[in-house]
Amino acid sequence: MKQKYIFIGPPGSGKGTQTEKLSHEYNLPHIDTGALLRAEIASGSEDGKLADSFISKGQLVPITLVANVIKNRLKKTDCEKGFILDGYPRSMEQAYALDDILAEIDTDKNIKPCVFYFDVDEKLLVERLVNRRSCIKCHSIYNLKTMKLNDESVCPKCGGQLIRRDDDTEEIAYKRFDTYFNQTAPLIDMYKERGWLIRLDASKDIVSVYNDLVGEIKGHVNS
Ligand code: AP5
Repeated sequence: MKQKYIFIGPPGSGKGTQTEKLSHEYNLPHIDTGALLRAEIASGSEDGKLADSFISKGQLVPITLVANVIKNRLKKTDCEKGFILDGYPRSMEQAYALDDILAEIDTDKNIKPCVFYFDVDEKLLVERLVNRRSCIKCHSIYNLKTMKLNDESVCPKCGGQLIRRDDDTEEIAYKRFDTYFNQTAPLIDMYKERGWLIRLDASKDIVSVYNDLVGEIKGHVNS
């Protein structure tokens, strides 16, 4: 696993938007824990029912459930070249669990992961979340405020249905922010101390954030 990218940042900071494009252009699997958990919920499994009871309250899903989902995903052959982890780890406990997973399965342990921290002005986050629509077919993400769509219920790329996520209400958004600041934000200092952290100004527009991200990746690969 040569290219190991971890994206951390508050809800609505643009992790999914940037991963979608980077994954496509660099041919790296996009591992989105939120999406994997929502798929588990849609399947009606017992794990999905348990996950739903936490997601609907804006809380983190129990560590063992998520660690199993991540480990099984990282073992798949498409991750041999590398991966983009979007939304994992989200707590110190999860960061140590990821260290253990990589110690067990990573074939290029001397290459350290790059952790991109999506730093955004908090005022922008709620606005982005309540205006987010996602395609149920191709998973493209739209911002109704900044992208003018002819029909706000149809994906312009594939014609699939656009939906608003159940946890994208203002009320649940604030609970997700609390969870983020209490449990995920401490990872920033931890990864900074390890020398793995790269801060991105994610308040910029989507294209500028992408250009900054790719610039950092190229600089890292050439260093
Ligand atoms: P998850 O689905 O991962 O949600 P999240 O981390 O809260 O992040 P979001 O998907 O809301 O935001 P994003 O940063 O990806 O932003 P996006 O690109 O979509 O997790 C959901 C839940 O699952 C969690 O609350 C938790 O319960 C559970 N869970 C997940 N992982 C877990 C874990 N590891 N452990 C335990 N539980 C876990 O962009 C948002 C909007 O902004 C879009 O409309 C987009 O178009 C727009 N936008 C993006 N960038 C820009 C920009 N630069 N300018 C203008 N608009 C922009």
